[in-house]
Amino acid sequence: MHYFSINEIKEWDRFYRANFINSLQGFKPVSLLGTVNEKGQPNLAIFSNIVHLGADPALIGFINRPIEAAPHTLHNIEVTGEYTINHIQPSFIKAAHQTSAKYPAEQNEFTATGLTPIFLENCKAPFVAESAIKYALQLVEIVPITHNQTFLVIGTITHVFLEEGLVKQDGFIDAHKAKSITSLGIDGYYSTEPIGRFEYAKPNKEVKKLLEE
Ligand SMILES: Cc1cc2nc3c(=O)[nH]c(=O)nc-3n(C[C@H](O)[C@H](O)[C@H](O)COP(=O)(O)O)c2cc1C
Repeated sequence: MHYFSINEIKEWDRFYRANFINSLQGFKPVSLLGTVNEKGQPNLAIFSNIVHLGADPALIGFINRPIEAAPHTLHNIEVTGEYTINHIQPSFIKAAHQTSAKYPAEQNEFTATGLTPIFLENCKAPFVAESAIKYALQLVEIVPITHNQTFLVIGTITHVFLEEGLVKQDGFIDAHKAKSITSLGIDGYYSTEPIGRFEYAKPNKEVKKLLEE
């Protein structure tokens, strides 16, 4: 095995080091966050640092970079308290990636990338029409991470929209069937291959694969 010490890693070229550290964590969910500003202008940006924080209450968090690097989504969430998270399918991956470009505040990324905004259930924030799995959140808390000037943005789920046939009998959402993609680092995208679901593990009991419906 190769061994790397942090002192060695710190000596590397900035871009090489960023790729190495960004992909070390492994595969991540990747989605498009939809918001509007105070004038109602839509904004769309790709995010992959998205994490489940609890099922009851239903909380999802995401990490926003320092304000100078990624200002618009965070600002819009602060002023409206609402945002949507939209899974990405391979059919619109290029447009999704394009939303990471540093567009000026007055540029609507839906228009710039050709993705379709859709307003549902009285949510102020736009959903992505092309996305098979999408949900809206109400802001709960923005936690500044002072160590590196990033923010943990915590929201509670308010509305969920899924294409037909994605929810299994026990409530499990089949994101593989939806063809939702996953990401590695900040420029690698992957499709999934199922291995199986397993029953609830108990000490001293051999765990079994669940039979799929
Ligand atoms: C695959 C990928 C994942 C990204 N994940 C994040 C993330 O989790 N947090 C973040 O702040 N920026 C992330 N970015 C960068 C933002 O998409 C980018 O800064 C964008 O311009 C932010 O737009 P905004 O200012 O409209 O919010 C990611 C970019 C890519 C390509």
